[in-house]
Amino acid sequence: MTLAVRDTQLRELMDDPACDLSRLNATLRRFAVVNRLVSGWGAVYRSRVAPYLRGLGRPARVLDLGCGGGDVIARLAALARRDGLAAEWLGVDPDERAVSVATRYAGSGIRFEATDSGTLRSRGDRFDLVLSNHVLHHLDPAAFAAFRDDSLALVQGPSGGVVLHGDIARGHLAYGLYAVGITPLAPGSFLRTDGLRSIRRSYTAPELAAALGPGWRVEQPAPFRVLAVAEARHA
Ligand SMILES: C[S@@+](CC[C@H](N)C(=O)[O-])C[C@H]1O[C@@H](n2cnc3c(N)ncnc32)[C@H](O)[C@@H]1O
Repeated sequence: MTLAVRDTQLRELMDDPACDLSRLNATLRRFAVVNRLVSGWGAVYRSRVAPYLRGLGRPARVLDLGCGGGDVIARLAALARRDGLAAEWLGVDPDERAVSVATRYAGSGIRFEATDSGTLRSRGDRFDLVLSNHVLHHLDPAAFAAFRDDSLALVQGPSGGVVLHGDIARGHLAYGLYAVGITPLAPGSFLRTDGLRSIRRSYTAPELAAALGPGWRVEQPAPFRVLAVAEARHA
């Protein structure tokens, strides 16, 4: 096994529409723990999300594209509420199985909807902040390009906006630590197989910058993480 190049042939078990529902639900629910430990959104909230929301001076509209089990947007909403930052939070995912798990977090300004980035874009929805977690590495080149362009179009409102796509940075240390660390959480879920496949499908920071192209920056906000950032200017 080599991690020198992305393994784009690998398919994650949870991406199979016919996968075992109880294992899928366990996977989606336990993402809350895994994301809390590895996804680095606490650091991104402090360095980017909170200052941006504070600077807007009005309630923001925030969108989580590919929200899965909904834990990332729920955590960001809780942090913002603690800091007195008003916002409307929408999590979307085209997979209805994910949305039905995510709805446990609905309420207190958080909504979920079974839809995708292209549909939101074509119906003219606009947001101040669009984010995603662990979506980019799932996508084939055509879906990646559409997702990138949709996310940017979704912040092209009159006051501009920011896009933040967080993902894993591929590497041997991340792979080895995940293989060991996931052991207590893995039984009855896809977390072990899909997590390791995710790392093998993921980008390094230079690869992601090349795939995204002009207008995007790729940062490394935490160990084993990449964060793609784009800013739409005020009209
Ligand atoms: C691995 S899951 C990540 C779930 C969640 N964000 C997390 O970090 O736990 C990737 C999700 O992206 C969703 N997705 C794929 N293409 C999308 C699109 N164009 N718009 C919105 N969601 C999309 C998939 O349905 C899938 O649930």
